[in-house]
Amino acid sequence: MAYIDTNESIPALTISSLNKMYQAREKITSLTAYDASFATLFDQIGIDIILVGDSLGNVIQGHTTTLPVLIEDMIYHTHCVSKNLRRSYLISDMPFASYAEPSQALKNAALLMQAGAKMIKLEGGAWLAPTVENLVRQGIPVCAHLGLLPQSVNTLGGFKVQGKSSSQAEQMLKEAKILESAGAQMLVLEAIPSSLGKAITENISIPTIGIGAGAECSGQVLVMHDALGAFPGRQPKFVKNFLATTGTIDKAIELYITEVKSGAFPAPEHCFSS
Ligand code: KIV
Repeated sequence: MAYIDTNESIPALTISSLNKMYQAREKITSLTAYDASFATLFDQIGIDIILVGDSLGNVIQGHTTTLPVLIEDMIYHTHCVSKNLRRSYLISDMPFASYAEPSQALKNAALLMQAGAKMIKLEGGAWLAPTVENLVRQGIPVCAHLGLLPQSVNTLGGFKVQGKSSSQAEQMLKEAKILESAGAQMLVLEAIPSSLGKAITENISIPTIGIGAGAECSGQVLVMHDALGAFPGRQPKFVKNFLATTGTIDKAIELYITEVKSGAFPAPEHCFSS
């Protein structure tokens, strides 16, 4: 895959062009980024969505959870990442406890949009419907996030696979439909059985972006440090180090794109069963 010629005018991806990819069943590629250099590189190589994840609490700030991440941190990194993007669509995470009420969510989401985000992402289910409705009414596109919710690690009792029982799976599917009806235009699914990732993807009409949610999702996302084998310690099952066999960062990202687009990633060894 060739680099995008920086002199050439490349149309920026929008929610409409991402929806066209979704309708055409073209897999959507996404990676996190937290600074201008990596974001620009990923953009030039052809990553569709760059996510300024609150995983920056882990990989940039060195915390064991995402809970210490502040809205100010997200604004700063969103500014950095948005600087030179030409094609990639930029989503920013709302951090822990920054969207407890619709009015608080609007204030904080607006700051992320003003920093350059094109969409914001929130973790949680049906309880967020009024917040999603309010944000969308105010012109702020929303990506919902179901399954393993890292901001809820203390109520979940650890970083565990979610939706394994049939009642949990039914509940998650119900919540996905509620969030879609509230106006969410994308849905991240994290650490759930592949069968549930498939069922949710087939039963809603917005793109699902999986991370440990099976190969049937509309697209895939990874934390960039995981995709490049740059995070020390034990890795979740859904992680693949694309640098290990390629040797350079640009070739690793090209391989990630190729494998997601072809459906080769995630392979069965990166997936969970119920
Ligand atoms: O914060 C993050 O990086 C995320 C992805 C893991 C989906 O939410």
